[in-house]
Amino acid sequence: MRTPQTILIVDDNRTNRILLARSLATSGYLTLEACDGAKAIELAMEHRPSIILLDVQMPTMDGFEACTRLKSIEKTAAIPVLFLTSHSEPANIERAFAVGGCDCIAKPFHMGEVKARLAVHLGLREATDMLEETHAQLLLAQKMESIGQLAAGVAHEINTPTQFVGDNTRFLRDTFDQLAPALGQVRKLLETAIAGEDCEGEAKAVKELFEEIELDYILEEFPTALDQSIEGLQRVSTIVKAMKEFSHSGSSEMALADLNRSLETTINVASHEWKYVADVEKDFDEDLPDVYCHEGEIAQVLLNMIVNAAHALREELNEEAGEKGVIRLSTCRSGKYVEIRVSDTGAGIPEEIRQRIFDPFFTTKAVGEGTGQGLALAHKVVVQEHQGTISVESEVGVGTTFIIRLPLGRELEAVS
Ligand SMILES: Nc1ncnc2c1ncn2[C@@H]1O[C@H](COP(=O)(O)OP(=O)(O)OP(=O)(O)O)[C@@H](O)[C@H]1O
Ligand SMILES: [Mg+2]
Repeated sequence: MRTPQTILIVDDNRTNRILLARSLATSGYLTLEACDGAKAIELAMEHRPSIILLDVQMPTMDGFEACTRLKSIEKTAAIPVLFLTSHSEPANIERAFAVGGCDCIAKPFHMGEVKARLAVHLGLREATDMLEETHAQLLLAQKMESIGQLAAGVAHEINTPTQFVGDNTRFLRDTFDQLAPALGQVRKLLETAIAGEDCEGEAKAVKELFEEIELDYILEEFPTALDQSIEGLQRVSTIVKAMKEFSHSGSSEMALADLNRSLETTINVASHEWKYVADVEKDFDEDLPDVYCHEGEIAQVLLNMIVNAAHALREELNEEAGEKGVIRLSTCRSGKYVEIRVSDTGAGIPEEIRQRIFDPFFTTKAVGEGTGQGLALAHKVVVQEHQGTISVESEVGVGTTFIIRLPLGRELEAVS
């Protein structure tokens, strides 16, 4: 069963309120009542009604001011406000829309008209809520998809060193199996020599054994196998650490974050995406101030940009011939902002599509290769959630640079 929708009726005239409340209740709506603007804001914050019917002329705080305030409060901004006014001259109606109202009904009103308009705006509200929810789900799906894609790369990144560390360890064990008896013979030879007995025969046998097991080869290969294994384990440890940091940075709380470290982690996590097509150059400002942000979301944005850069390079290069381009990542402080640049020497973005790349679902990639959500998500995270900016500079055949700017000092606003 559908939950009944709640309508907040705001009018200083008690008779109007009673009339509206009774009639709306017979149509299955729940109602709340407020006699002035201040009480209306209080009730709206507490109950989040589906819609507000707001009288314009009221003592102390009039309907226009109440609406302006409701629209400036995050919790109540999305609630549609339908004005009721006995001054229905054009200037007043214009003002009702200017302060954020969605409609205006002239008093004295006809209940049938009020209900018809309410039904339209409630339907619109439902549709908008559904759209927003779908968009949020899509963004989450995009995030899950890129994490899934990453997981395959990470598995490969771990698998390769694991395989050669395994091969090397088996080589070391087999070699040791050959060396151990030879060393036993050497010990016997030493004992014979120390006892002052003739040991020429034993010495010859040891020499032959060393030749048989190819001691020179062992002496050469043993340290190489050990070094390679240490390096392989180091690679596994780096990627595991990066994955741990990447998932840890998914905390939903805003906090001060070191974005140089986030970039470093993201480069490591995404290494499988770029390492066959690019050399990564880093130019990080060592004195970069921490930024108050959702670090996990910013890391997701950086990941999308690095993956896009790798794709743009793949499009341009002959990978099979071993050609590589450059992905350059830099950070710096720029006034009250921290600036991150992600550049590539890839295909570039043709001018005619540059305006559309941040649109949801815009992609030039084949079905299955891109959903067109990466930059839409980046825009939402950077601009809407962090009050930052994203811009792009690009030249076809030369490359592309994305510039992200995040404001500093937002932790101070959060405290106040
Ligand atoms: N660095 C880049 N170089 C060239 N073109 C790019 C670059 N980054 C983005 N684009 C263009 O912008 C489009 C949109 O990018 P976006 O990241 O939003 O989606 P996508 O990469 O196509 O798919 P996905 O949802 O998997 O990220 C791409 O399809 C591509 O045409
Ligand atoms: Mg992308």
